[in-house]
Amino acid sequence: MENKYLIGIDIGTSGTKSALFDTEGHVIASATVEYPLYQPQNGWAEQEPEDWWNAVVETLKKICPAAKDGEIAGIGLSGQMHGLVMLDDDCKVIRRSIIWCDGRTAEECKQIEELVGHERLIEITANPALAGFTASKIMWVKNHEPENYARCAHILLPKDYIRFKLTGEFATEVSDASGMQLLDIPGRCWSDEVLEKLGIDKALLAKVYESPDVTGHITADVAALTGLTEGIPVAGGAGDNAAAAVGCGVVECGKAFTTVGTSGVVFAHMDKPEIDKSGRVHTFCTAVPGQWHVMGVTQAAGLSLNWFKHNVAENLSYKEIDKEAEKIAIGADRLLYLPYLMGERTPLLDTKVRGAFFGLSAMHTKAHMGRAVLEGVSYSLCSCLEVLGEMGVTTSDMALCGGGAKSPLWRKILCDSFGIDVKTMESDEGPALGAAILGGCAAGVYSSVQEGCRRAVRDGEKLSPDSDATAQYKKYYNIYKEIYPALKAQYHALADI
Ligand code: XUL
Repeated sequence: MENKYLIGIDIGTSGTKSALFDTEGHVIASATVEYPLYQPQNGWAEQEPEDWWNAVVETLKKICPAAKDGEIAGIGLSGQMHGLVMLDDDCKVIRRSIIWCDGRTAEECKQIEELVGHERLIEITANPALAGFTASKIMWVKNHEPENYARCAHILLPKDYIRFKLTGEFATEVSDASGMQLLDIPGRCWSDEVLEKLGIDKALLAKVYESPDVTGHITADVAALTGLTEGIPVAGGAGDNAAAAVGCGVVECGKAFTTVGTSGVVFAHMDKPEIDKSGRVHTFCTAVPGQWHVMGVTQAAGLSLNWFKHNVAENLSYKEIDKEAEKIAIGADRLLYLPYLMGERTPLLDTKVRGAFFGLSAMHTKAHMGRAVLEGVSYSLCSCLEVLGEMGVTTSDMALCGGGAKSPLWRKILCDSFGIDVKTMESDEGPALGAAILGGCAAGVYSSVQEGCRRAVRDGEKLSPDSDATAQYKKYYNIYKEIYPALKAQYHALADI
């Protein structure tokens, strides 16, 4: 019998990864192409959709030849959530995409709450108005660039723009659409009420599917450009976190994962759309049809370490930063790092807060600062876990994934500061594997997302916390949590200058 392969494409913030898997989840070939993040003002973040597309083409060209002895049966897409892509009548990109970590839309969030009503917005979209989400970005373009808004014929999320380029279809799926704040989360469809109150024409939006559904097929032009075959089905796929959930087997209640990518996320599966009344964590549809998830988000997780590497530890690699940080004891000799470089979501929901090293002494070195960055990001993720605990969500089966979790030191800091058992996954492909499994569902290779996970996802090693270390981290974490409330007024005054 001919070999069958699946492709997962993950349009991340630092780069796009395309990976070719066999149907048992083994990586056959993988390629990544990076691109820039533009920050035209403090707190703004934009990317060029053409950069994503070029990266998709380049990576596909590299991996497709590895499937020569078989058939690529299905493709799944995953991507950074919330980014706003606007196309004109000729399907040309109108402006750079305003992406998930952009914090310019505080005023638009107020406007959305006024137009829809706070309670009603939470009832329908399961979340209060948030600067990270797409609706406030659409309202910002409406308010500040009316000429661009007038030209807009299609609104897409990052991975859905890539889907359009691959298949010619305007489609999205429930997990990523959840982050637009225009979706009825319990009903899993666009909310006519929210769209009407915000004055957004539904015709601008893509058709909503469930994540494993077929949404289109590879066109002849794309086949010629990339080495794919015309007609391969493209699944709905999922937002990067919901895709990572599939790639980690987090597809039933009790299962959870923590990922350290550019952002950091603590994610738990749910069979009902439970919400945190104060909106500190997001409730979204998940990639399993008819199921939901809740997640807390640290805006600058890997982004913090990337910033540190490039601006403070210029000549060190990530491995070297780790090696240095490992020599420093827990608490970095009384140095705390607040990872609020791009404002913060969970639990602060504050676009005006910024990062800090707190307790800096003349004896501190780059090694202490590196250690403080790893610990500070972990404290922020502890806050996410704490909110999920307060909601009564079970997170007992916790996987660690994402680029940050490749660092044994960061894994240990996360495990000890969480104070719970954690595990790694055999494959570190996370969202790309999850997307490929969804592609396998669309191709009929798997009968369900759960079956795909049973076949293609395997646990890695287990890690248990050291109780002495947990007790030490707790002391620093308690101080960490008190710094923001104490400095909130000053942060806002600084932002308002
Ligand atoms: C989730 C979020 C980020 C992005 C980028 O709400 O904004 O995790 O998906 O990875």
